[in-house]
Amino acid sequence: MKNLVVTALLLLCATYVSAQPKADYRIIPLPQSVRTDTTRCFTLAVGAGISYDAGDPETSRIAQWLKQYVEESTGLTLALTPDSKQAAISLTKQQPKAKKGQPQVQLDEGIINSAYTITVGKKGIQLTAACNEGLFRAMQTLRKSLPLQQTAGQGILFPYTSIADQPRFAYRGVHLDCARHYFTIETVKTYIDLMALHGCNQFHWHITEDQGWRFEVKALPDLAKKGSIRKQTVLGRNTGIYDGQPYGEGLYYTQEQCREIVNYAAQRYINVIPEIDLPGHMLSALHVYPNLGCTGGPYEVWPHWGVSADVLCAGNPETMQFIKTVLGELCDVFPSKYVHIGGDECPKSRWQNCTKCQAKARELGLVATPEHSIENQLQTYINREVEQFLAERGRDIIGWDETLDGGLTPNAIVMSWRGTEGGIAAARQKHRVIMSPNSYCYIDYYQQKDQWGAPLGIGGYLPVSKVYSYEPLAEELTTEEQSYILGPQVNLWTEYVAFPQHVFYMLLPRLDAISEVQWTQADKKDLDDFRTRLPHMLQMYDRMGVNYCHTIE
Ligand code: ACM
Ligand code: ZN
Repeated sequence: MKNLVVTALLLLCATYVSAQPKADYRIIPLPQSVRTDTTRCFTLAVGAGISYDAGDPETSRIAQWLKQYVEESTGLTLALTPDSKQAAISLTKQQPKAKKGQPQVQLDEGIINSAYTITVGKKGIQLTAACNEGLFRAMQTLRKSLPLQQTAGQGILFPYTSIADQPRFAYRGVHLDCARHYFTIETVKTYIDLMALHGCNQFHWHITEDQGWRFEVKALPDLAKKGSIRKQTVLGRNTGIYDGQPYGEGLYYTQEQCREIVNYAAQRYINVIPEIDLPGHMLSALHVYPNLGCTGGPYEVWPHWGVSADVLCAGNPETMQFIKTVLGELCDVFPSKYVHIGGDECPKSRWQNCTKCQAKARELGLVATPEHSIENQLQTYINREVEQFLAERGRDIIGWDETLDGGLTPNAIVMSWRGTEGGIAAARQKHRVIMSPNSYCYIDYYQQKDQWGAPLGIGGYLPVSKVYSYEPLAEELTTEEQSYILGPQVNLWTEYVAFPQHVFYMLLPRLDAISEVQWTQADKKDLDDFRTRLPHMLQMYDRMGVNYCHTIE
């Protein structure tokens, strides 16, 4: 009889419970460990408190965000309280306890700072981390676990759980080309918001190109003023037909705006890595300063896409002065430890025929070797000067994998994009590597087989499932060599992407896939399971009013 009553009560409870909005911890990216007791729930009621360290403005900001997200997702209003005894949700900073007998493993800051735990039990919901960054990641996990359903005064059910999470990779990058097409700082902020939602921590901001210079340099005011404008833009994929419309007047980022983006990202625990792509991809600068090119110009800000033969002259001393002026101001504005100096797609035909470049090669005593041509070594000479200049300012350089072609400079980080070979070679030379192979990480590629249904793109085919399948630790490498791989990054080039809706269509939901590559251990990844967790994210994008690709292959 007693059993019957208990069963009836449980059934009644279950019926009642199922009608109530309920949290679901099966989110993207999937946390490392989630142990949930679905038979017991904590109810977060209207007016419940979130406690935080009131003396720490960062923690209070995180608490404030959590309050806002709970309200936006469910309509439930919470209260902020510094008193943890009154609180249903607590945000606590605490060093993790060392497990008995186990030495503390030294983990990179990018991993350890993002580690957190969430515990839900009868006392409520506890978010714990060693620092604010971890609390921020915990808050995002809780946010993604929330039901997207009005509570109608009932409160939200949180199944009892114990979540322990930390990212697999220290470097979790996302790139955006704001040079081929310019995007407002509002759009850039939304992009950063989406990165934060997915636990990414490095925003690679590509702000100079053949088709437009978009970074204000105060000592060289004409650079952005004139270099930002192209006379027209080619239609389609280099059809030879142009739109006749000038593009880009005033479309560059002032230093004040750059600082605003840096601060906005920093509040979301994202570092901004600026890229000045050199010595190739420089037509916008050559247009303004033709003396910096081997032929002396004239040059135009390119109205079409591709790789230009005209690049900065390696033999002209004014080139190095120009680079240092630009990078000096860049360092004043961007505090990032890493500065990206490009280095990709720099044809050497001009250098081969330039008396200044050849004189410089002789002065440096460069001789061709089976591995490195003289001209590739000239590019390494530029990289070495730049590396030293930036090292004096406490920065490390990142370069595209072409920086291997003339021999790597001592401390260069390689971003592997032409497949994984560059990354593998660099790791074998004990250089740090960011993996961004085009075949898995170029989100300017189409994401659906039927390209007729998609906006015009650069080509390729990179569906969500292929991004998801990416394994950054190349199996060709030993474990020791793999330790040089900092992490993966997706890149969004914007030759064919001119509007914010299109940016987010290209980004989402491939960002979901890469975030799981960045966070989740390889043995826990499961594409079918990922697909079951994706609809909730798409519902969040609908709520946020951001566009995404509905064709998920
Ligand atoms: C690149 O895609 N040219 C780095
Ligand atoms: Zn030259």
